[in-house]
Amino acid sequence: MSEDVTVRQDGNVLVIALSRPEKRNALTASMYAQLAQSFQDAEACTSVHSILLRGNGGVFTSGNDIGLFLDQDAEEPHEPAAASFIRAVIALSKPLVACVRGHAVGIGATVLLHCDYVVASDDARLRFPFVDLGLCPEFASTLVLERIVGRHKAAEWVLLGAPIPAGEARFAGLVNQVMPAELAEEEALSVAQRLASKPQMALRATRALLRQGWDDSLAARIDRESGVFDALRRTPEAQQIFRLFLDRTPQAIPTHV
Ligand code: COA
Repeated sequence: MSEDVTVRQDGNVLVIALSRPEKRNALTASMYAQLAQSFQDAEACTSVHSILLRGNGGVFTSGNDIGLFLDQDAEEPHEPAAASFIRAVIALSKPLVACVRGHAVGIGATVLLHCDYVVASDDARLRFPFVDLGLCPEFASTLVLERIVGRHKAAEWVLLGAPIPAGEARFAGLVNQVMPAELAEEEALSVAQRLASKPQMALRATRALLRQGWDDSLAARIDRESGVFDALRRTPEAQQIFRLFLDRTPQAIPTHV
């Protein structure tokens, strides 16, 4: 199991932290496996009432480790590792809170769409960089993002791919609270604890009602995006972009910053 994901229980809250700060918490196959297992364990454990997902080192995550996208990994397609993580998140019956500090890129932004509550630090920047990478969004974000922020904002964010300041994400409805970095983690834990202290059957039943009717559409959209994503990932155009980033070629991926 990966040492780049840490898990601790704080009362009835399970705190899952991404911890590969030297690579801005970029997610590897073993981190995805650890995350999937941790979310499944959280679901099964009766003393866990809510989950908090955060990143160590002042960063949430820079998204999928771009090395995983290279053709040399074609025998182990991108989808299964990342998908096991997101599918475990979507399968949760318990509330999930995210604390975002610094960058939340790619799957780091996508996972927020499947959270129940998001606290961001005022230096947080979300980004859906898929088009610039020669890819498309995944894990039902083409469905859920539009529902949360509306058609034009969703198009702006995923087609142009510019970093989204925390304040803009809050205004658009994707983030609940924005606060100074030193307070964000405490506040996110406090929200998770408040959720954990509620009558659990009522909380989960209400949460399920809020999500009712979504499951089939989510699954269908995930499958559809996944096919397009993997076809794009294998194109020479995308492979070239990944290599340029990994070779540290300046502006391999436009940063807009
Ligand atoms: N995959 C693989 N390595 C990554 C990575 C990723 N997604 N994100 C960062 N890294 C690595 C860098 O290659 C660098 O490695 P090195 O120190 O061995 O050279 C290290 O992490 C630090 O990255 P750096 O770009 O110098 O950090 P920064 O703070 O200046 O910028 C980001 C942070 C997140 C803006 C920038 O790293 C970035 O744009 N990353 C790619 C994001 C992305 O497109 N992810 C794919 C999502 S599908």
